[in-house]
Amino acid sequence: MYLGLDLGTSGLKGLVIDAAGRVVAQASAPLSVARPHPGWSEQDPAEWIRAAMSVLRDLAGQIDMAAIAGIGLSGQMHGATVLDAADQVLRPCILWNDTRASAQAAQLDADPRFRAISGNIVFPGFTAPKLVWMAQEEPALFARVAKVLLPKDYLRLWLTGAHVAEMSDAAGTSWLDVGARDWSDDLLAATGLTRDQMPALVEGSSPSGGLRAALASEFGLTSGIPVAGGAGDNAATAIGLGVARGGQGFVSLGTSGVLFAATDRYAPAPETAVHSFCHALPQTWHQMGVILAATDALNWFSGIAGASAAELTANLGALQAPGRALFLPYLGGERTPLNDAAIRGAFIGLDHATDRDAATRAVLEGVVFALKDCQQALAATGTRLDTLIAAGGGARSDYWLGALATALDLPVSVPQASDNSAALGAARLGLMAATGAGAQAMPLPPIAREFTPDPRLGAAFADSYARFRAAQQAIKELT
Ligand code: XUL
Repeated sequence: MYLGLDLGTSGLKGLVIDAAGRVVAQASAPLSVARPHPGWSEQDPAEWIRAAMSVLRDLAGQIDMAAIAGIGLSGQMHGATVLDAADQVLRPCILWNDTRASAQAAQLDADPRFRAISGNIVFPGFTAPKLVWMAQEEPALFARVAKVLLPKDYLRLWLTGAHVAEMSDAAGTSWLDVGARDWSDDLLAATGLTRDQMPALVEGSSPSGGLRAALASEFGLTSGIPVAGGAGDNAATAIGLGVARGGQGFVSLGTSGVLFAATDRYAPAPETAVHSFCHALPQTWHQMGVILAATDALNWFSGIAGASAAELTANLGALQAPGRALFLPYLGGERTPLNDAAIRGAFIGLDHATDRDAATRAVLEGVVFALKDCQQALAATGTRLDTLIAAGGGARSDYWLGALATALDLPVSVPQASDNSAALGAARLGLMAATGAGAQAMPLPPIAREFTPDPRLGAAFADSYARFRAAQQAIKELT
């Protein structure tokens, strides 16, 4: 059996597959985000370890942990977990959706080496500008930084004792030469750091270390079993969905929203705000458009409306033409295509008839239109997707998926366990690292449902998207 651990933003999931790739056990533990100042988003890495222990204990009650022969990791990307020389955490992790370092990001992005070598805009949520922010705002702590780890790589340190990263997640730091799949000494030096402060690099499907004996005995696992490099959560989701060849893609409705396209080669296009990263298998790459709030926007609205996201979406009925109410989901700024940390969300076009259902539909549609922006950004790089597979907790909403299929004019299929794709991908990478298996270990999972564009509503969604674009311009000037 093989264990995948997916360290998300809202929770940590564990999933175990057997040698044939079938899911045999699952567990999860919630995580929360601290927002001590506007634009900030942090988590205490100690919470990740507590969540991982709770998940391992839960799994140990379901299966014989001694039969697990490999572990794989998936994780929320870009977070800056900073450690001193004794591996003590120096401050809370600054997460992927934290935009405090927008000035520092703009400053690095103005240095042409960053786009040329890393293949990407230096977004405020990426790791490098956060370290420049620390150097300026917390110089005493910055001086003690001995290692910078991505969130799942901190989990790996706990599991194996080794400082290791892998290519797909490292690609989101702004320090990786994404074409060469190696740290760039130039980019590190431009942020006052050296290669010694970075973890070693492996491919996602390769072993990164062995499980520590103390943890093995605590949870009934076998000491020394390989822990795979794993992947950032989007590349891990792709592995879980069988997406690795050019032309294949998926849409993720998680805390963030992602339109992901596997590419046959490294194809950077930073001017479009599309992300171009390494994939989790050797010599493979991918592109993605990323929006900062998908289920995050629905969960925000659910807090205000006083009803859970499931309650809000349960009674929306059949897909209908968008109404006058329009929502722009920029609660914490936006990445693709705007690269704007300052823009904020808006509800416009409200009237007396705007009830809870109408407002919920507007939130779902606003996220869909932001993903349509990503589709257009991908198209500007020459990447076209003909079908999409859906992942993430938001894929539980039929209304959302119907709106997505209609607005993007693409069929969207949903696998049976759509919200565990990243953990499944992590488990598959664990299997690959333990057995040497390749892409044959990542078939497309069984599809439960398919949503096709509704031809009667296509024009109404196109009109509403045009209003969304106009509103986007207008609110940019207001926020
Ligand atoms: C990707 C990104 C998000 C996080 C969410 O660039 O920032 O999708 O990985 O966990």
